[in-house]
Amino acid sequence: MREVAFQRCILPQCRATVGLEETAFRCPRCGSLLDVDYEWDRLSLPATMAAFEAKWAQRHSPLELSGVWRFRELLPFAADEQIVTIGEGQTLCRPSARVASYVGMSAGQVYLQYEGLNPSGSFKDNGMTAAFTHARIIGARRAACASTGNTSASLALYCAASGLMRGIIFIGSGKISYGKLSQALEHGVLTIQIAGDFDDALMRVQEVSRQLGIYLVNSINPFRLEGQKTIMYRVLEALRWQVPDWIVVPGGNLGNVSSFGKAFAELYACGLIPRKPRLAVINAAGADTLYELYQNRGLRWNGGEYDRQIVETYMAELTASQRRADTLASAIEIQRPVNLPKALRALELCGGTVAKVTDEEILDAKAQIGAGGLGCEPASAASVAGLRRLVQDGVIGRDETVVCILTGHVLKDPDATVAYHTDDRALFEAKLGRRGVRRAAFANRAVQVPNDINEIIKAIELFA
Ligand code: F0G
Repeated sequence: MREVAFQRCILPQCRATVGLEETAFRCPRCGSLLDVDYEWDRLSLPATMAAFEAKWAQRHSPLELSGVWRFRELLPFAADEQIVTIGEGQTLCRPSARVASYVGMSAGQVYLQYEGLNPSGSFKDNGMTAAFTHARIIGARRAACASTGNTSASLALYCAASGLMRGIIFIGSGKISYGKLSQALEHGVLTIQIAGDFDDALMRVQEVSRQLGIYLVNSINPFRLEGQKTIMYRVLEALRWQVPDWIVVPGGNLGNVSSFGKAFAELYACGLIPRKPRLAVINAAGADTLYELYQNRGLRWNGGEYDRQIVETYMAELTASQRRADTLASAIEIQRPVNLPKALRALELCGGTVAKVTDEEILDAKAQIGAGGLGCEPASAASVAGLRRLVQDGVIGRDETVVCILTGHVLKDPDATVAYHTDDRALFEAKLGRRGVRRAAFANRAVQVPNDINEIIKAIELFA
C-alpha cells in the first residue's frame, strides 16, 4: 500500500511518484521539480479552518505553539515525535492605514503579514523547520544551502538550536547584508564565500550536495515549501478565515509564490476555502526574470506544457550578454529562479500577475512601512511598492482586500536603511546612487547638534 505522503513530479504529463526518503529533489523520470503530495482522502482533516483555533489553548505543547506545526494536518508527512521545531511562525498580520494611503487604497484594506518575527528574523524558518524534520526522518547529518542570506541564517540557527546537523552555506562574495552574514557566523556554520553571485552559488551547492550526499535545504527541496504554506494559513486565521482578494509577495527564487499557490489549491480542493485569492509576484527591476518571461514573453504554465524554448532562449541571452542580477534588495537578487515552473503553475491556479519595481520605489515603500510601525528589509518592501504600481495600473482595485508579505526584519540590512536616511551624500551615492536611486523621498535625517543644552532644546522644539 502506498504511503499517504510521498513526492510527485509536478508535470501532469509525468506524475511519477517518489518515496518520502528520496533527497534528489528531481523527478527520476523527467528531471522536473517535485511536490510533496498526499492521499488526502485517506487522511482526517478538520471540518473547517476555524477548527484550528482549538489549538490556541494548547500553547504549552511545542507543536501547538509552532505557527507551522499547529497546522500539521495540512502538511502530514511526519510523525509528531520526528518534528524539529524552535517555536517558528509566531507572526503578526496587521492592517496598515499608512500603507493603504501610500498605495492609494481604502483604509482597512491593506494588511501586512510580518514574517520578520520568526526566530531568525525571516519567513525562511517556516520552511526550515519542515526541511529539518524531513532531514531528521532520513537521518541526514549535514545540511547545505546557497543563500542571499536568510536561508543561511535560518539553516545556521536550526543547526545550532537542534544540534542535529552540521551546516554548510554557500554565499556570493559581498552579496549578502551584514545582518545575515553575522547570523551565519554567530551560529557556527561553515561559511563558504564563493567568487560569484547567488545563481553561481546555487549551481555549486547542488553539485556538491549530490557528490557528497549532503542534505540540501534550498527551496528546490519540496519539504521547505510545505512549511511555507502555513504563512497563508496564518493569514487566513488573522482574517478570521475570510479569503482576501490578493496576496502580494516579493519574488526571488520563487519558493514562496509556489508554496502559496499549492496551499490555496489544496485548501480549495479539500473544501476548506470557498475560493482562492489572486497572487501578485513582485520582482526587483534589476532581477526581473519572472516579469520578463511572464509579462513580456507570454510564458504560461499551460497545464504543464509551458514553452521551454522561451526559457532557454532567455537564459542563453543572459549568458551571452553577461548580465547579472543587480538590486539593493539583495535577498531577491536572483536571475535564474529554480522554482520557475512551480511559480507559473501557482500563477495559473490563482489567476496571478507579475510586476516589477525599481530600487528607489522599494526604499520609499520600506520607509512608509517603517513609519507605519513594522520594520522590514528591502526585498520585503518590494511587495508594497508593487502593490502601489498595481493599484496605479488598475490591476488591483482600491476596495479589494490585500495582504502584502513582509518577508524579513528591518535589522537584516541596516546599511540600506542608514544609507536611505543619511544626509551624507557620499554614503548615499556609494550605496544607493550607483543603483539608480536619485532621492530618498521619506528620509528621516539625524540632526547634528553641538553638545550644548540650549542648542539641544532648540533642536527638539524645532522638530518635535
Ligand atoms: N524576501 C526575503 C527577505 C528573502 O530572503 C527571499 C529569498 C525572498 C523574499 C524571495 O523569496 O525565493 O521564495 O521567492 N531569499 C533566499 C535566501 C533566496 O537565500 O535567503 P523566494
